[in-house]
Amino acid sequence: MLQSMLGVLSADLAVDMGTTATRIYVRGRGIVLRQASAVAMHEDAAGRKKVLCVGDRALEILGRTPSDVRVVLPVRDGVVAEFDMAEALLRQLMLQVQGRRLWVAPRAAVCVPHGLSDVERRALREAVEASGAREVVLVELPVACALGAELPVNEARGNMIVDVGGGSTTVAVLSMGGVVHHHRMKLGGVHLDQAIAHHLRQEHDLLIGARMAEEIKLALGCALPGFQADGFEARGRAIDTGWPRACLLQADEVHRAISEPVRMIVDAVLSGLEHTPPDLASDVADTGIILTGGGALLRDLDRALSDATGLPVVVPDDPSGTAVLGAARLIEQGASPAAMAV
Ligand SMILES: Nc1ncnc2c1ncn2[C@@H]1O[C@H](COP(=O)(O)OP(=O)(O)OP(=O)(O)O)[C@@H](O)[C@H]1O
Ligand SMILES: [Mg+2]
Repeated sequence: MLQSMLGVLSADLAVDMGTTATRIYVRGRGIVLRQASAVAMHEDAAGRKKVLCVGDRALEILGRTPSDVRVVLPVRDGVVAEFDMAEALLRQLMLQVQGRRLWVAPRAAVCVPHGLSDVERRALREAVEASGAREVVLVELPVACALGAELPVNEARGNMIVDVGGGSTTVAVLSMGGVVHHHRMKLGGVHLDQAIAHHLRQEHDLLIGARMAEEIKLALGCALPGFQADGFEARGRAIDTGWPRACLLQADEVHRAISEPVRMIVDAVLSGLEHTPPDLASDVADTGIILTGGGALLRDLDRALSDATGLPVVVPDDPSGTAVLGAARLIEQGASPAAMAV
């Protein structure tokens, strides 16, 4: 009785706290928030910490803060690395989502990478509970992505999920709601940005910031050669003089700069297919590889994967929101099948 009253008064939430972005879905309202996974905090001489702001505002001041203000990115390579900061981030974001509404503590489905230890799971669960949730269901990321892509995950059919996030790439094969093969590597969109910055440093003696590197990727990045576009002016600081300088880049040069990390993503998918039992592999060939995460939006990454594997590649409508939508589906179904909720 109490549980059902709580169910009416509270809003069920789904949360995907990624390396670069945190997304919150509210039952009946959809994905209501996408903010950078960042916390800006002030630390006084006695070591007392005070959160100044979180999300996009905190990211904006990254690299521009006085020495007593620190911007923390609590998720690293897809895994929560600083639990107190993750908790502060979630607490503030949940307040933003609630607005003036008075909620009873919500139930929350939270995406987690596959293969976390019990200790890591417990720490994450406690961080989410401490940020105000009443009941926390952890959903493994590949399962969440499959649900979000509306695949029939409970059937005895193989599905391959490739999630290219900001800090990590996951290749997983699922069947009957469980993970049959899984590989996660610390390589995502941020590493493509770093490869671009590295290239500019090596070839043009130009130092650029992380934001500029991402802008270049969004403007000209392509997984295959031949992308036709106007040049892009990369702005940074000359290594020799230390003065501001600009350099005009073309798409093919950016393609070359990111070709190594792109090749590593393609290789991880090929290796995933090699580890897939034959019957499940033929299911994957029917359905296609499901490509999610913000990295799925890199131009022609789907075509590069399809060329390399000979299989169709499907990108859902909102690839970076697929995981949180899937976690929301799980919580909306009410019951949480044991194999999925961990
Ligand atoms: N159009 C685009 N082209 C290339 N990359 C893009 C595009 N749009 C977004 N990205 C990249 O997607 C990445 C973010 O993806 P996503 O939001 O799925 O990551 P995340 O969930 O925060 O990270 P992770 O899953 O690794 O913890 C960023 O590196 C961003 O630059
Ligand atoms: Mg992610």
